[in-house]
Amino acid sequence: MGRVTSLLDRAGTPVPAPVLPPLRIGPLTVATPVVLAPMAGVTNRAFRTLCREAGRSTGFDPGLYVAEMVTSRALVERNEAALRIVTFGADESPRSAQVYGVDPATVAAAVRIIAAEDRADHVDLNFGCPVPKVTRKGGGAALPWKRQLFTDIVRAAVDAAAPYGVPVTVKMRKGIDDDHLTYLEAGHIAEGLGVAAVALHARTAAQHYSGVADWESIARLKETVRTVPVLGNGDIWSAEDALDMVRRTGADGVVVGRGCQGRPWLFADLAAAFNGSDVRVRPGLREVADVLYRHGELMVDYYDGDEHRGVRDLRKHMAWYLKGYAVGGEARHALARVSSLAELRALLDALDLTIGYPGADAEGQRGRAGTPKTPHLPYGWLDSRELDAEFEARLREAELSVSGG
Ligand SMILES: Cc1cc2nc3c(=O)[nH]c(=O)nc-3n(C[C@H](O)[C@H](O)[C@H](O)COP(=O)(O)O)c2cc1C
Repeated sequence: MGRVTSLLDRAGTPVPAPVLPPLRIGPLTVATPVVLAPMAGVTNRAFRTLCREAGRSTGFDPGLYVAEMVTSRALVERNEAALRIVTFGADESPRSAQVYGVDPATVAAAVRIIAAEDRADHVDLNFGCPVPKVTRKGGGAALPWKRQLFTDIVRAAVDAAAPYGVPVTVKMRKGIDDDHLTYLEAGHIAEGLGVAAVALHARTAAQHYSGVADWESIARLKETVRTVPVLGNGDIWSAEDALDMVRRTGADGVVVGRGCQGRPWLFADLAAAFNGSDVRVRPGLREVADVLYRHGELMVDYYDGDEHRGVRDLRKHMAWYLKGYAVGGEARHALARVSSLAELRALLDALDLTIGYPGADAEGQRGRAGTPKTPHLPYGWLDSRELDAEFEARLREAELSVSGG
């Protein structure tokens, strides 16, 4: 990864102007307009640390790194796992948390906990979850369809955060399906309520993670939301994709999810690209193994020294890290079942660490994909944009069953 530390400006060559002006999220200024997407089970403190370190290694501002979502109810109940989600490293600044909720009062209470207890500097609201067990009850990406409820939740969050100067942003999908799009209206409502930015994952709930993100819709949102930044999200697999999205949509910044799974160094490429440098990280297997081991150590630290838990949580990252590297099925299999740092070290040391960067095989799409699915919705959900009492009761259950997405 040494290559990124020798950036143009340190070599004395003038660095070209940044691609975009700094991102302004309320009082926060993020010089490099790149955001790590919240990903449940992925963007915990350990992974964010690696991403931020990579971004920072360029010498440029590294961007914004959002924690995985926390459900408002769990946070209000001060559930241990929920409180762990909103912990940040000493060097994390700004600190971004994401809240998922379906009830305005509970969301407000959760936002108040984060803001009043100084647990984060920015709160994002999740309206993009497409998981059937959530949308079936009207939560996640199904929620903006109920316009008044969406309005009440966003208003409650903004009002709860305002006394503490904490900006609130909204992250959403295009809508439920192509016949029930909500993003332009939701973006407009959120802007009017005082959110500091809106981010669009340019897919519908029906698309899940399948097909290709519709960047055109990001351009449409940018035309609609004029007074706060619009962030584009979906299918950024490289720094070049990120620049391309900005060029094609006019977005004020990008949100990057699956593309960095097993590749935290993508944030070095992104920071470089947005600051006009064409330096890119192309790690050989030795460098990948070093990052992987460090990820393991950070995981153990995240779980307060519980080594088994930390290393077990690392298992899901193995295939992502090794994508494209010729390590053999046996090693992959063993790494995916690793249960201690010593075992991890031994397995990594046994690899042929002279293997170089495999090029395109290590790049491109990774993580969730799948096929389109007819969204599961409460019976009659699409008949009206208003919420009735029966739906309200179901929605409360939706919050209990959400686990990310
Ligand atoms: C494993 C995983 C977990 C996710 N968890 C969340 C989440 O907690 N909150 C959220 O708003 N979006 C979540 N998402 C959606 C991502 O933030 C992002 O919108 C989506 O992956 C599209 O961006 P990409 O094409 O760059 O991956 C998740 C996605 C994945 C793959």
